[in-house]
Amino acid sequence: MTVNLVGVAGSLRRGSFNSALLRVAAGAMPPDSALRIESIAGIPLYDADLESECGIPQAVARLKDAIAAADGLLLATPEYNNSLPGVAKNAIDWLSRPPADAARVFRGKPVALAGASPGGFGTVLSQNAWLPVFRTLGAELWAGGRLLVARAGSVFDANGEIADAATRDSLAKFLAGFVAQVRARKLAPKDL
Ligand SMILES: Cc1cc2nc3c(=O)[nH]c(=O)nc-3n(C[C@H](O)[C@H](O)[C@H](O)COP(=O)(O)O)c2cc1C
Repeated sequence: MTVNLVGVAGSLRRGSFNSALLRVAAGAMPPDSALRIESIAGIPLYDADLESECGIPQAVARLKDAIAAADGLLLATPEYNNSLPGVAKNAIDWLSRPPADAARVFRGKPVALAGASPGGFGTVLSQNAWLPVFRTLGAELWAGGRLLVARAGSVFDANGEIADAATRDSLAKFLAGFVAQVRARKLAPKDL
């Protein structure tokens, strides 16, 4: 049974380390699993007037459907000012609209957090800051592993590849753990 994950980077930057991390992850998935990369590009700033006048923007509706259809979500998050980045929180806020549709997207959805930063702590504070957000949305946060890619400037090469064997190994273990959890849940779904 194939496990299909969707990966989203919480960055809009062309040279994003977090987008690069997802691309490497997509090529390092365990057998019988796949990671499809989606984007938060094109999502406007949340504005309740915009929502009531124009409805859910197309970029939001598309991403909602992609997450709803996936077996799990991998969020590769940057860290801004020791917390989560505003553009990514804005995207998740939009994805939770309207409230009546939020459960289709997030309730019981396995979510894993990973992140890369040029600093020494690899987004640990950002990942912590996401916890109450996904708890509020009723997602199933996977706590079986952590992927904190520190010193990203030297971990990724000019092509966005990871040469460092230890980081590649950590990524492979992280993906294997999350996929195993998602697969187990898929085989024996809980009543939610
Ligand atoms: C406003 C701002 C605040 C930042 N704060 C942090 C921080 O608290 N911790 C950290 O490790 N990096 C911080 N950074 C650096 C980001 O980790 C870095 O820009 C990273 O490349 C962003 O992720 P990306 O490469 O996926 O776009 C900050 C960057 C910006 C622009």
